[in-house]
Amino acid sequence: MNALLCQAFGPISELRMQQVPDPEPGPGQVVVRVRACSLNFPDALIVQGLYQVKPTLPFSPGAEFAGVVERVGAGVDGLRPGDAVVAFAGHGGLAERCVVDAARLLPMPAGMDFAQAAAFLLTYGTALHALRGVAELQAGQTVLVLGAAGGVGLAAVQVAKAMGATVIAAASSAERLALAASHGADVGIDYSTQDLRRGVLEHTGGRGADVVLDPVGGEFAESALRATAWRGAFLVVGFAAGQIPRLPLNLVLLQERRVLGVYWGEAVQRDPARHLRDVEQLVRWFDEGRLRPPITERVGLEQARDAIERMASRRVMGKVVVDIG
Ligand SMILES: NC(=O)c1ccc[n+]([C@@H]2O[C@H](COP(=O)([O-])OP(=O)(O)OC[C@H]3O[C@@H](n4cnc5c(N)ncnc54)[C@H](OP(=O)(O)O)[C@@H]3O)[C@@H](O)[C@H]2O)c1
Repeated sequence: MNALLCQAFGPISELRMQQVPDPEPGPGQVVVRVRACSLNFPDALIVQGLYQVKPTLPFSPGAEFAGVVERVGAGVDGLRPGDAVVAFAGHGGLAERCVVDAARLLPMPAGMDFAQAAAFLLTYGTALHALRGVAELQAGQTVLVLGAAGGVGLAAVQVAKAMGATVIAAASSAERLALAASHGADVGIDYSTQDLRRGVLEHTGGRGADVVLDPVGGEFAESALRATAWRGAFLVVGFAAGQIPRLPLNLVLLQERRVLGVYWGEAVQRDPARHLRDVEQLVRWFDEGRLRPPITERVGLEQARDAIERMASRRVMGKVVVDIG
């Protein structure tokens, strides 16, 4: 089969298309014929050896995908060849076939095509887990989303709106803010030209945002923390800017702010029942037309390396989907 392969941790440019043997399912495993795989920032980190998980080499990146079950291993119940499924596998999706633990598969929701299903679980799952599970966002509160035109960012905009919040989007260009607005953001702040804290205070009558969701890190994190309301929640989701910020704790003390970590993949493993409830909620919102996977580009497997490089250097918006087979 064809696969985009990482032979050694290093630059994304070293990824190569290769022919590799078809995978065999072990006990409890399933071989999925991948139909679509969406890109997420961790795909760029994992091949460089910069992600918290380091797969055995060689491997294919591609954390989440949708496809059709081809073979099932011993001891797998409830899945049969021909079933359409969606997977959060961590890696392996940028190949024609992927072997994955059955526990990491869910039936593909009716009403979604393969591209939508491939662009659903990770970003919406992270957004709902962060906003509802970790921050306990309430209807009527105000949410500030950084990197609001990115994959997690746009999902957070949509989920916050579905939960009845007012959303302030922050992003680095007018085009990106327009995309966030088209997905429901109420107002936008271009943090490449405007002062983020001042902008948030202006939009909230001086109170600040009740919940801040930060998948970017870097230079904007401190302004975003300063723009968090009294007893508001600051959600540490990721560091797409490449820098892990160091924040002065007096900013936490003075407003009794809560700085909260978000690690969706780990939370899914630790509490699968809660994850399933989140997925059910997300699928209901999708069926009601309240969530719209923000697919901005569709490419083939041959173009996936280039797309990962563009994502790593801030040159994509929304979700890129790789169509495979
Ligand atoms: N904690 C969790 O459970 C969890 C789950 C999923 C993802 N994540 C993390 O969340 C972050 C976002 O993931 P994603 O898939 O949404 O990524 P993405 O689609 O590439 O979006 C990232 C956004 O970050 C901003 N950014 C600022 N500086 C950047 C730079 N130097 N390079 C690239 N982007 C930059 C960009 O927005 P502007 O140009 O508008 O600033 C971009 O839209 C990543 O760090 C990822 O690892 C965490």
